[in-house]
Amino acid sequence: MPLLEIEDLMVTFDTADGDVHAVNGLTFNIDKGETLAIVGESGSGKSQTAFAAMGLLAKNGRATGVARFDGNDLLAMSQKDFNKIRSKDMAMIFQDPMTSLNPYLRVSDQMAEVLMLHNGISKSQAVTEAVRMLDAVRIPDARARVTMYPHEFSGGMRQRIMIAMSLLCQPRLLIADEPTTALDVTVQAQIMQLLGDIRQDFGTAVILITHDLGVVAGFCDRTLVMYGGQIMEEGTTEGIFGNPTHPYTSGLLKAVPRLDVDEGELVTIAGEPPDMSNLPKGCPFSPRCPVQLENCRGERPPLETHDGRRRSCHLAVSEVA
Ligand SMILES: Nc1ncnc2c1ncn2[C@@H]1O[C@H](COP(=O)(O)OP(=O)(O)OP(=O)(O)O)[C@@H](O)[C@H]1O
Ligand SMILES: [Mg+2]
Repeated sequence: MPLLEIEDLMVTFDTADGDVHAVNGLTFNIDKGETLAIVGESGSGKSQTAFAAMGLLAKNGRATGVARFDGNDLLAMSQKDFNKIRSKDMAMIFQDPMTSLNPYLRVSDQMAEVLMLHNGISKSQAVTEAVRMLDAVRIPDARARVTMYPHEFSGGMRQRIMIAMSLLCQPRLLIADEPTTALDVTVQAQIMQLLGDIRQDFGTAVILITHDLGVVAGFCDRTLVMYGGQIMEEGTTEGIFGNPTHPYTSGLLKAVPRLDVDEGELVTIAGEPPDMSNLPKGCPFSPRCPVQLENCRGERPPLETHDGRRRSCHLAVSEVA
């Protein structure tokens, strides 16, 4: 049984201007200990997919379809049951650690609170465990620094604290939503290295959500490319990067800065992301796609599987540049 199963997930927001269709029939799995990247431009529905699975959708949002964790139906779960499963079984870290850290509480107090709630251990045991976790994410001099406030740490250190906090109850799934976007390149690399080590040491499955394809290679087993709240293509990371079979994936890859190519050669995808309250009838990417077949705008291409690769495109694989 997969650890997390998402089937035909739809996320819709009720707004004054009508319904916003953020996720439109998404289906994917992640197994125990696996790493999956979800990539796509801003607004493609990456975060809302994670929020739906974590029971964290905004009040005006609703999710339909199936989301099962270890066989438990997440979409039908009460907030009370969700509170039990969050942190303990599945945890999430965000781009900006300050959204999850309480600025008025010492790190020791916030970390201990999580442990005392879920594991029912004493405060002093909890602080010892917190220090052990801060050591694991390589916060120097963790024993002395555990009683500091979040603002007394640098941005990179705060992200480490977030990661330590998310791992306190040894979740089986960690969802990292743009965990390195706000950090400079060197710190980014250190955080990715850390996430890699954690996955090795704790066997945690990781969903890495990012619009930065540069951080995906070398970290994730599989990559899912999203656009307009739908899957464009999914496969092994090696396959997706080495042999993209969807024009949107090709476009994204051409826009990744590479050290061996002059910056002048970077090509961004022309046009704007779709209006999620008024998606095109056919392929959501069709208005921007360099290839236009007759049925691209009229008919949504079915998601088909070949050789372990899933793709949704009317174009024949051999014709993708
Ligand atoms: N509470 C809300 N009400 C209305 N629309 C919303 C709400 N929250 C998100 N959306 C819309 O849902 C769509 C998908 O958003 P989502 O946050 O999943 O994008 P994303 O892929 O994570 O982008 P980014 O890379 O910028 O984080 C967007 O069009 C966004 O404006
Ligand atoms: Mg997002």
